[in-house]
Amino acid sequence: MKSVVGLSLLAEKVANFPWTFWPECYSNENTTEPVCVFTDQKFASGRGIYIVSTASLAYQMLKKPAFSRPGALDRINQHANPPYVQHEFPGKGRGLVANKTLHRGDQIFASTPLVITNPISYHLVEEERLRLAHRGVETLPPASQSLFWALLDHFKGDPVDDRINTNAFEIEVDGVGQYAVLPEIAMLNHDCRPNAAYFWDEETLSHYVHATQTIYPGEEITITYINNERKRSLRMANLKRNWGFDCSCSACSAHPVFAAESDARIQQLDDVAKELNDWTAESRATPEMAELLISLYEQERLFASMGYVYKHAAEAYSSFGDRHNAVKYARLSVEVNSLDKGFRDVDVLAMKKMAQEPEQTWSWKKRVGHQRFEGSTCACGHTH
Ligand SMILES: *[C@@H]1O[C@H](CO)[C@@H](O)[C@H](O)[C@H]1NC(C)=O
Ligand SMILES: *[C@@H]1O[C@H](CO)[C@@H](O)[C@H](O)[C@H]1NC(C)=O
Repeated sequence: MKSVVGLSLLAEKVANFPWTFWPECYSNENTTEPVCVFTDQKFASGRGIYIVSTASLAYQMLKKPAFSRPGALDRINQHANPPYVQHEFPGKGRGLVANKTLHRGDQIFASTPLVITNPISYHLVEEERLRLAHRGVETLPPASQSLFWALLDHFKGDPVDDRINTNAFEIEVDGVGQYAVLPEIAMLNHDCRPNAAYFWDEETLSHYVHATQTIYPGEEITITYINNERKRSLRMANLKRNWGFDCSCSACSAHPVFAAESDARIQQLDDVAKELNDWTAESRATPEMAELLISLYEQERLFASMGYVYKHAAEAYSSFGDRHNAVKYARLSVEVNSLDKGFRDVDVLAMKKMAQEPEQTWSWKKRVGHQRFEGSTCACGHTH
């Protein structure tokens, strides 16, 4: 493609033109703005990225620290000497196995996408949408093209489109939902009781993966593809429908007796969470109920999701004016939610505030005077 090379030299030489190539664009009566492919081969120290979007959204993305702040990606895309080896599992395919001990909070890897594609591209006629996707891959740096082609394809349609559909993660940039393709995370298999969690960080346009519990050498590193706080039959149907596999993790393959026990706990944790979410004067919520919720999550080994449970506990204790337990659970919530939802998540920020000054949070003593202490000798916080 001689003309492409010629054009690229031209594009790169234009002062302040941020993309490596002139964007190719299409539009029709259903698009409000042309949809184009924007490639930056220099992004993330030469890993490169292509973005399929409108010019206004693509240029807005350039304002993110990932593009604009030197050093913002220093901890990202460091894939030399990783704490895992790739392994072929019979009947399941490839996966990653730890080759050193990982502790809760250890970063396993963090990476930038090769592709970010905006769903508005579906307003284009199919042929033009695919043209942009192919053009995007062709304009990535060679090493990143190899990473892209090594991705698995599941649906067996157009080879580029298929790899994107099989491996894309939903992300958000400036409130706009998009799809991102990250070859490293695509290597992690699903488990309904995962030992790692991931989140998307908008500032660095990066996907972070951390251990959520101790992972010993020889253990597979797993994430969840779905919401696990649901009955086994629903989880299995979801995985089959969206990823085409029969779930064989321990929570899926357990003896029916144990599976029924697990489903009963899942039902109960749902019920208990509803009570804790009741902030009316009729609420029956108590800190003991929050302790039950924690216990149910622990029994279910839903460790990666416990940030949410610890938040319930922190608020429940705070609502009865128990400072020390509110702080204890707020700290735990910050720790776990930071791994699952990200450093900048609203719940993480709220719990940081709770950990410092529970008296200044909205839930403080909100339930003092509720029936928990009626008829008991405890005068905990009663002022009226
Ligand atoms: C783990 O395996 C990777 C290869 O995937 C290797 O680079 C790394 O040095 C190994 N680490 C240890 C502690 O053996
Ligand atoms: C625009 O949308 C309409 C309604 O969905 C559809 O029938 C038409 O084919 C679309 N036009 C193009 C160029 O895709």
